[in-house]
Amino acid sequence: MKILGIYGSPRKGGNTELLLKELLRGCRDAGAEVEEVFLRDLKISPCLEIYACKKDGQCPINDDMKPLYEKLAQADALAVASPIFFYAVSAHTKAFIDRCQAFYARKYILKQPIAPGKPYRKGVFLAVGGSRGSRIFDGPLLTMKYFFDSLDMTFHKSLLFKEVDAKGEILEHPTALAEAYSLGKELVKVDP
Ligand SMILES: Cc1cc2nc3c(=O)[nH]c(=O)nc-3n(C[C@H](O)[C@H](O)[C@H](O)COP(=O)(O)O)c2cc1C
Repeated sequence: MKILGIYGSPRKGGNTELLLKELLRGCRDAGAEVEEVFLRDLKISPCLEIYACKKDGQCPINDDMKPLYEKLAQADALAVASPIFFYAVSAHTKAFIDRCQAFYARKYILKQPIAPGKPYRKGVFLAVGGSRGSRIFDGPLLTMKYFFDSLDMTFHKSLLFKEVDAKGEILEHPTALAEAYSLGKELVKVDP
């Protein structure tokens, strides 16, 4: 089983990074093959609305997103981690998501299968916000719902933590890392 982990924070060693690392450790311990992608290390243009993807499902922009399309199509599960920035996912995460419009085009316009032979693909979302605002995850959860749908993945679960702001502060949370680790193990379980 192949698990792809997407790190969406610009901050090295930040809270969402620590969480996703722990989730992926759970995946590895459960026997999965894990690949990690740090969006902050890549050059990914925002979607430019060229709409070439409507014709062939391919994005013509030649940048670091290119190799990710194949990885996304081949993953059995995808874990995306993003900090909350202004009630949204980070700009790194959003640029990556918008470039997945190519998958939306394949699925809904061209009626092509996204991942043939993989009917039980799952997506999970990890997010951390610094404030105690009651609605900080509303927007990102909607975004992730439609993002995972475009990839033909079930939105399996999200782990959301608020009032965690300083770098590494998630380490002081009583349950967060353990929750991430066990979600990683759970993700590797094959559906019937
Ligand atoms: C530009 C920016 C915008 C932010 N906006 C919000 C916000 O709207 N709501 C919130 O609760 N926290 C907000 N935060 C705080 C981060 O979500 C918080 O520090 C989080 O722990 C960062 O996770 P990371 O260490 O993985 O990057 C913001 C931080 C930055 C830098």
